[in-house]
Amino acid sequence: MLSVSSLTTSVVEDILSKADEFASNADASFTSICRDKIVGMMFLEPSTRTHKSFECAAYKLGAKVMHYDHASSSSVKGESFQDTVTTMSQYVDALVIRQPVCGALGKLRCDVPIVNAGDGNGEHPTQALLDLYTIRKYFPAKKGLLHIAFVGDLKNGRTIHSTLQLLDAMYEGVFFHFICEGGLELDEVYTRGLRNHYYYEHRLSDVIELMDVVYMTRIQKERFARDDDGMNVSCDHVLTPELVRRAKKSMIILHPLPRNSELPPELDSSPHCKFVEQMKNGVYVRMALLEWVLL
Ligand code: NCD
Repeated sequence: MLSVSSLTTSVVEDILSKADEFASNADASFTSICRDKIVGMMFLEPSTRTHKSFECAAYKLGAKVMHYDHASSSSVKGESFQDTVTTMSQYVDALVIRQPVCGALGKLRCDVPIVNAGDGNGEHPTQALLDLYTIRKYFPAKKGLLHIAFVGDLKNGRTIHSTLQLLDAMYEGVFFHFICEGGLELDEVYTRGLRNHYYYEHRLSDVIELMDVVYMTRIQKERFARDDDGMNVSCDHVLTPELVRRAKKSMIILHPLPRNSELPPELDSSPHCKFVEQMKNGVYVRMALLEWVLL
């Protein structure tokens, strides 16, 4: 499960409807369908929501979780990542891996399924599933046209890369609007095969009235080269309360988080803001995904 392109539409539908089942039984006791399984977590980059929601999902399925700590592993003695993964795969039934090199997971040999939890500035397919799940709650796939704005660091934002591809595969009649600083545009590899229309916009304020979904992201400063003045790039595309007041009543705001200044906390109590629901949905979607991978 390395990229959204490895998911067929029927697998996506199965995962989303399973997630729905888990969500509607959220208050019921945990299931034990995966009680004989161990999920390995290898997070070589920081994570709060992805790591913790995967862990929570595994517990709710009755699975055990084994955490790998890079700093105390034999990698500090020079062990290769391949040898580390080979070792971990002898002890667990699936590996959830976040690491900093785009495309590196596809080159690994591994005896158990790997779930990509974010590979550098590449992809983040499980975030795409939970983003799609959240958007579908408000905008079912078969209904009318949809205007979706992706704002922020389109070049480095792996959640945008995966969510864009998945929305494009699952919706017809979507208009994607891309809003970013010069130099932070999407790599052509992510727009080349799009079936739906897309446009680069100058400012969010030019199109805010039209939007159904505004997907905000932070500038990924840690991914700029050290000698790049990108370290000083600020996000001029801030979603202010004034802008939100001009939006449709039904418009929803999503953000994979963490956020910086692009989404001010003053908006948290706005009925448009759905990022808490989005992070909660991550548990149900990851339960469905882990069950699919483990059983
Ligand atoms: C993002 C990530 O790590 O790609 N967060 C997440 O997984 N929910 C976004 C980011 O780091 O900006």
